[in-house]
Amino acid sequence: MNAIIAQRAPGFRPKVGAILGSGLGSFVEAVKAVAVIPYGDLPGFPETTVSSHAGNLVLGHVGPTPVAVLQGRAHYYERGRADEMKGAIQALAELGCETLLQTNAAGSLRLDMPPGSLMAITDHINFTGANPLFGVGPGHGRFVDMVDAYDPALTRRLLAAAKKVNVACHEGVYIWFCGPSFETPAEIRAARILGADAVGMSTAPETILARHAGLKVVALSLMTNYAAGLVPGPLGHEQTIAVAKEAAQNVKRVLCTFLESYGA
Ligand code: HPA
Repeated sequence: MNAIIAQRAPGFRPKVGAILGSGLGSFVEAVKAVAVIPYGDLPGFPETTVSSHAGNLVLGHVGPTPVAVLQGRAHYYERGRADEMKGAIQALAELGCETLLQTNAAGSLRLDMPPGSLMAITDHINFTGANPLFGVGPGHGRFVDMVDAYDPALTRRLLAAAKKVNVACHEGVYIWFCGPSFETPAEIRAARILGADAVGMSTAPETILARHAGLKVVALSLMTNYAAGLVPGPLGHEQTIAVAKEAAQNVKRVLCTFLESYGA
């Protein structure tokens, strides 16, 4: 698969790989693209079934930093496989990426983080019982250390980037639920007691896969709604997309500033 990438973007060696979450794919407009390759052309890359996820690998530059952007992820809930992103993340590592930058849409468990707020992920709770490394054999590094899985130094730089462009950015713990149904209010009350600040259906498995592949991780969540039961009313994917669209410019500014100074 990396032969295909090398053929479309000869000599291109990305430093940072990025995964863009629901409704946040427009960040690619900020990438000066060298090549855009549909996942369908790349063996081992996922089929995405969520319409707000485009399914392209975009190679190019943000400022001086060479990046490989995965525009769209596949989720555990799509086919019941937690390792959907394994091939794509391994490809990023093999291409030379040292860091995986992730974005996602999430539900907020905190009233002081209303929809539209950003949160740098400092740690996660895997509440699914699944792991993308199920089946990895002995001798293949399956006992991955998860201390500081979200790199503290890179997270500080992400927060500094947000400050520089005047975008408020919280810090907190992300809890991974498998979806695709939203959580119940009781599950969200439990998640709060467990120490979670935001809830979503992605990101944690990609972090595990990235740490397994030797990549550092830094991640930014966009709150698209209050989690179930925090405020009256139902939840829907439409709201996720609508709020993500509105806040996408803030996310883009933070990511661009982070990436422009990445090598500095
Ligand atoms: N729960 C799970 N995933 C989400 C949510 C939520 O409330 N909002 C956006 N993604």
